[in-house]
Amino acid sequence: MPNTVDTSLMPDKIVRSVEDLRDVVACWRRDGKSVGLVPTMGAIHIGHLSLVTEAKSRCDKVIASIFVNPTQFGENEDFDAYPADEAYDVKELLGADTDLVFCPGCDDVYPEGFSTIVSVTGVTSGLCGPFRPGHFDGVATIVSKLLLQCLPDIAVFGEKDYQQFLVICQLVRDLNIPVEIVGAPIIREEDGLAMSSRNRYLSAEERALAPELNRVLRSVADAVIEKPADCERICSLARSELLEIGFSSVDYVGVCDTETLELLKSYSESARVFGAARLGPARLIDNLRVE
Ligand code: PAF
Repeated sequence: MPNTVDTSLMPDKIVRSVEDLRDVVACWRRDGKSVGLVPTMGAIHIGHLSLVTEAKSRCDKVIASIFVNPTQFGENEDFDAYPADEAYDVKELLGADTDLVFCPGCDDVYPEGFSTIVSVTGVTSGLCGPFRPGHFDGVATIVSKLLLQCLPDIAVFGEKDYQQFLVICQLVRDLNIPVEIVGAPIIREEDGLAMSSRNRYLSAEERALAPELNRVLRSVADAVIEKPADCERICSLARSELLEIGFSSVDYVGVCDTETLELLKSYSESARVFGAARLGPARLIDNLRVE
């Protein structure tokens, strides 16, 4: 990773090994402190900092991890291009009151011979699942590791990646990991675009079009309240509209049950609208509650 931090300069603020991480957490536990974890892949923006604030409002100490996890990127995805500036990310996280930043190396996370995959079924079968084969296995595996390494009281995840949030809730339930998973609201730019590390791939022209994804999803939410039995037709029109606006492709627009993510033909109380579409080099996702 370029621009890495010399850990020895801030040994009480940055750790790279699980051993050092556990020493710090053990110290906090001896002092009766509660601990929150915010897993990240770096490329820190205000959305991440809001997760730290959420964790800090619930716990005495907050750990943020930075690890660009190769196993959650598909072959043709942006692993090599993923923005990496550890020094900047650490500065931002510490500035937002993070107590400890955990930056493990790839060989420590996946040493030779590593052969365990955590694979969640059900909530992974729709939405991003078919478009990103292997992605949620990568996420579930790294998040399981991070939770077991830190053993926090809570871990906070952004609801922009709502499907990821449900995957993590499911694995924590199924594996009896003693942690509370907290979902934090999506943080948006003024024009409605959901904040994402991948927004920086957008050209000025693409950036101007990007908030249209949110606008179209909002119009789907309004339309299904008006015509609850028309979800499929409304979503199909929304897909066409995104293409007309200039999105290069649309992976999905759908109204789904908030807990199972099952696609709904007819809107009932607990529903969310989800969308994923490509704009130049960026694949944008967004979602919102129908209410
Ligand atoms: O949401 C992310 O940034 C990543 O998927 C996560 C949860 C840090 C796992 O690598």
